Amino acid sequence: MIKFICITLAAMFTLQAFGQKNNPVLIETKHTSLVLTIGDNKRVLQSYFGDRLPASSYSQLKGGREVLLTAGMENQFEPAIRMVHNDGNPSLELVYASHSVNRKDSNVTTTSITLQDPQYPVKVTLHYTTYYNEDVISSWTEINHNEKKAVVVSNYASSMLHFNADDYYLTQFHGDWAREVNMVEEKLTNGIKVVESKLGSRTNFYQTQTFFVSLNKPSTETEGQLIAGTLAWTGNFKYTFEVDQRNGLRVISGINPFASEYNLLPGETFTTPAFIYTYSGKGKGQASRNLHRWARNYGVLNGNGNRMTLLNNWEATHMNFDESKLVTLFDEAKKLGVDLFLLDDGWFGNKYPRNDDKAGLGDWQEDKKKLPNGIGYLVKQAEQRGVKFGIWLEPEMVNPKSELYEKHPDWILKLPNRPENYGRNQLVLDLTNPKVQDFVFNTVDELLVKSPGLAFIKWDCNRSMTNAYSPYLKDKQSHLYIEYTRSFYKVLDRIRAKYPTLPIMLCSGGGGRTDYGALKYFTEFWPSDNTDAFERVFIQWGYSYFFPANTLTAHITSMGKQSLKFRTDVAMMGKLGYDIRTNNFTPQELQFSNTAVQTYKGISPVIWFGEQYRLVSPYEGNRAVLMYVAEDKKRAVLFNYHLNSRRQDIFNRVMLQGLDANKKYRLKEINLFPDTKSTQPDNDKVFTGEYLMQVGLNLAPGRALPLTSNVYELTEE
Ligand code: DGJ
Repeated sequence: MIKFICITLAAMFTLQAFGQKNNPVLIETKHTSLVLTIGDNKRVLQSYFGDRLPASSYSQLKGGREVLLTAGMENQFEPAIRMVHNDGNPSLELVYASHSVNRKDSNVTTTSITLQDPQYPVKVTLHYTTYYNEDVISSWTEINHNEKKAVVVSNYASSMLHFNADDYYLTQFHGDWAREVNMVEEKLTNGIKVVESKLGSRTNFYQTQTFFVSLNKPSTETEGQLIAGTLAWTGNFKYTFEVDQRNGLRVISGINPFASEYNLLPGETFTTPAFIYTYSGKGKGQASRNLHRWARNYGVLNGNGNRMTLLNNWEATHMNFDESKLVTLFDEAKKLGVDLFLLDDGWFGNKYPRNDDKAGLGDWQEDKKKLPNGIGYLVKQAEQRGVKFGIWLEPEMVNPKSELYEKHPDWILKLPNRPENYGRNQLVLDLTNPKVQDFVFNTVDELLVKSPGLAFIKWDCNRSMTNAYSPYLKDKQSHLYIEYTRSFYKVLDRIRAKYPTLPIMLCSGGGGRTDYGALKYFTEFWPSDNTDAFERVFIQWGYSYFFPANTLTAHITSMGKQSLKFRTDVAMMGKLGYDIRTNNFTPQELQFSNTAVQTYKGISPVIWFGEQYRLVSPYEGNRAVLMYVAEDKKRAVLFNYHLNSRRQDIFNRVMLQGLDANKKYRLKEINLFPDTKSTQPDNDKVFTGEYLMQVGLNLAPGRALPLTSNVYELTEE
């Protein structure tokens, strides 16, 4: 379990003054104010959200929109919360009851406002945790009641935000397997636009749960007012963007209530996941830098810690390997100089060996034919070569052709009286069943106990839910989607209680799970099974808006047709790894790769922990340019990718960002292929930060050669 130690600097206190005229509740970060006031009817209103206001302005704020619109009374728009009381009354009114502020430390404060129904014993508490320096707010809700019988809650948003602007532009990120996070921006028109998932597991298969809403006009990287939001929930989610008849916008974010009416028992508390958001008055770049900082400090396991470079064998061998082939691969990992070897799918199953994706899933014993000496032997062999060993698991799933399926048919999500429905020849286990939770925990635990040297896990999840029905939940089927995700977290809590620091990669048939609900248990995620470096520029670009580079795994493979240099440069913008046979590398390629790993180790602190600036978008032309600047601004790394297929493209100079105008920097092209020289005329020259940001650099001197790339390091002189 991840422990959040709460140092209460100021004890909880109630502000009696809230509710009286001119005494708003201030939810503030360094550059943002969210101001709540109370209306004459005791409803709590959002009176302001945007750039931080001077204190003198607060008392002038009047009116606003109800902070959590309910259903059944006078509201005719999409509700944030809807409840049917135990007597069948389908309405809810929420008025101010009390309010408290809990200051955890100088950066993190939680403001909680409890609302209650004047006629029914129902309470709803809105929590707002502010991360002051990161300019991030996390909002979630708790619902409970003391009615005689269960109430039915059919909408339970984490957050509702109101905006008033001339126009609104929504940026969403949609996709499919191997084509994740396609960024699309559109103007919101009157009515409702919904971005959601109903997939249960592998939730982000078609939609990544991240969005921007720009106010008045589309934002650029450096200009515009916008919010960037994402729900910390590894399950069905729903964002509703409703523009009303007066051009007001409401953004409702939360668990998707689809097929999920919740019977809430008296005394039980329904806690929604957190909606994480940031407001920027300075464009998308600032918003993502806010989120990156927040993620490293609060959102991701070991977000400020080291990450291991690795050699994975999935694309290199698929399931066609045995012990001696793996040992050869350890030698290749050693020659590359990476930290870890990651054994992927195909190492388990005896009655039904896992030689393809049709059998064996669920039977987590080493395949004795392939691995006669077991995992422990492999760990030792790798260690003898100075390489750590990691392993792939997909513990939530089962092939019908498996011993697990034969032994426990009641552990599987499937509809009675209907044929089984498969995705990648597999079914989803009923994780809501505590016995299945034990099974999943024990699978991980037994592996780690048996082979204490195991240094890394890749946790996969290759299908979404169809024909979803839980034998365990019996007459509570509408709780399935929610309970599944809660159960996933219960298992992860147990794993983290015993193994708090073990690096685990979140993977879901590519980028099917990419959310901050899971990432607090994981160190990194697998963005896509598409590892073609050209495609990866777009995919990694898309994720980079919401996730820091140290979470974004990027492997060099043989999928794309680009040069090894190009593929390596693309992997360097994230968390670099390899998934390729190096035995057929030329000596030069091996020398290049070995040096690249060392180079990456040298620059990765800047990439992982620096501030990211996206300078030229691949969505706007045939190239992508981005840079990372160390917090102290003494170092920066600049990536330049030419995506043109013809020589004709002319690329203008690029102004750098984020440097210290008064510092002097030496520009050095790094990661060059052996026996090649930099063609950058400014290479090894010294410039002021001001020059680099005002005059910029010509990154395509001569001609822009198709599919070439450069990495530059800038170091303070
Ligand atoms: C899907 C993952 O995204 C791949 O990287 C690989 O681990 C396969 N599953 C293995 O089945």
